[in-house]
Amino acid sequence: MADIKQEITRRRTFAIISHPDAGKTTLTEKFLLYGGAIALAGSVKGKKNARHAVSDWMEIEKQRGISVTSSVMQFQYDGYCINILDTPGHQDFSEDTYRTLMAADSAVMVIDAAKGVEPQTRKLFKVCLLRDIPIFTFINKMDREARSPYDLLDEIENELGIQTYPVNWPIGCGKEFKGVYDRGRKEILAFQAVGDTANGQQEVPIIEADLNDGSLAALIGEGHCQALRDDVELLDGAGYEFDMDAVRHGRLSPVFFGSALTNFGVEPFLKEFLNMTSSPLPRASDKGEIDPFRPEFSAFVFKIQANMNKAHRDRVAFMRICSGKFEKGMEVYHVQGGKKIKLSQPQQLMAQEREIIDEAYAGDIIGVFDPGIFSIGDTLVAPGCKFEYGGIPTFAPEHFNRVTQVDTMKRKQFVKGMTQIAQEGAIQIFQELGGGMEEVIVGVVGTLQFDVLEYRLKNEYGVDIRMEGLPYEYIRWIENTEEDFDPKRLNLTSDTRRIQDLKGRLLLIFANEWSIRWAEEHNPELKLSEFGR
Ligand code: G4P
Repeated sequence: MADIKQEITRRRTFAIISHPDAGKTTLTEKFLLYGGAIALAGSVKGKKNARHAVSDWMEIEKQRGISVTSSVMQFQYDGYCINILDTPGHQDFSEDTYRTLMAADSAVMVIDAAKGVEPQTRKLFKVCLLRDIPIFTFINKMDREARSPYDLLDEIENELGIQTYPVNWPIGCGKEFKGVYDRGRKEILAFQAVGDTANGQQEVPIIEADLNDGSLAALIGEGHCQALRDDVELLDGAGYEFDMDAVRHGRLSPVFFGSALTNFGVEPFLKEFLNMTSSPLPRASDKGEIDPFRPEFSAFVFKIQANMNKAHRDRVAFMRICSGKFEKGMEVYHVQGGKKIKLSQPQQLMAQEREIIDEAYAGDIIGVFDPGIFSIGDTLVAPGCKFEYGGIPTFAPEHFNRVTQVDTMKRKQFVKGMTQIAQEGAIQIFQELGGGMEEVIVGVVGTLQFDVLEYRLKNEYGVDIRMEGLPYEYIRWIENTEEDFDPKRLNLTSDTRRIQDLKGRLLLIFANEWSIRWAEEHNPELKLSEFGR
């Protein structure tokens, strides 16, 4: 029992988000480097050295140079056991990011110091806000010309609506980058690019110096010395107070400046971050909050990933353990399936390797072989436990296509491919009320998902499809549960369509907001929702 408590207490599980190219991969790689999980930086993703990225499972990601799906990595550092959840950098996959955030206890947001808040930072950040989790900001690329740190903080506060607290403060940038001042410790970490460390292949040495130390000017220059003393005075006088409670609730973001490429500021950030974040927290279930330290295992599925291994055509369900301990060969109860099952081939990603594991604890993410029984949001518990975690809501799609197969002989593959890709949550599929799979309406949040669908059906299922845009823009789930409720009797505009999703839930799709209002005004009993729950 004692070791379960100890193991869970040392867990930290966080997601990392950024606009593409801000440096998320480089930062992750440096974390792994400090954790000793990889020997040489540049091996997580090397665009130049053409090594495969850990997170690049799908061809399409490589083609487009974006990370479409999210991956999970675990490493050890300073007594902590850390689970990093990578998220897709593209806004078209923000639903995937949302599901990943459901499995995380905090998030790290990486921002390019020259660019500030970018469109996808904004969109992904909004997704973070839906969860109220602590958000830590790493302002990256200080070794290059950067915008004023005041401007950057203002922009984060104004555009993202969160308060900021700079934990450290940069001294210069680009060629003049001298290091950072640690406000808590009242120390300077001086930046020194030495030989090979300039490209971040090794750990960078850090020289510490006091703000009132006479030798400081020699280290960072007289001009920087004065500017820094002024900045620190201003920050201490005019900035937000550090308030841990506000951090815990996602209202105040601790901000760190650094340079992932040169390794500067990465380790101090990691240390502070681990110290400020908490071990796994209790999670809400239909029977109240479940304490992570209770010994009985429980988990929920937040992601399903197909074809991680092309040769085996396997499908892996990723679950976040929320309480207790998982042991290999253990029997668990799958609440939604109503059955006891053995979780087969439990695995974890350790940097580049996938490893079969023997045990895992609350806070960890494990992937198990999925013979097609799991759906996103499913709960698994130790036999005898009777509760389930709240499901993961489905985002309302904003784009709709009618999808048909080109070769009608390949019907079986078409139905299988469409259903599996929808179960993974990569697309949503809808049908006419009582209709079959002859004609399928596919809904997506971002149009890039259509490309993924087309690509995957062709490459994984050997099916060519035809897609035709539909003029709908809004979707609402019907929440009426009355027995005599009949969607055919609804009074709707002629361009509104009644459909159902894979779970048989009723929906309406609308061409414009006016039609939604019409439906609401002419059917007072109708209950509509923007989320599929
Ligand atoms: P992402 O995962 O957020 O998309 O970003 P990634 O880490 O791939 O970084 C994008 C580019 O920015 C890479 O250059 C990377 O080397 C560079 N970069 C990351 N952090 C820093 C930093 O602190 N300082 C500087 N100067 N550059 C940084 P690239 O040329 O596009 O790729 P590569 O050929 O180096 O792999």
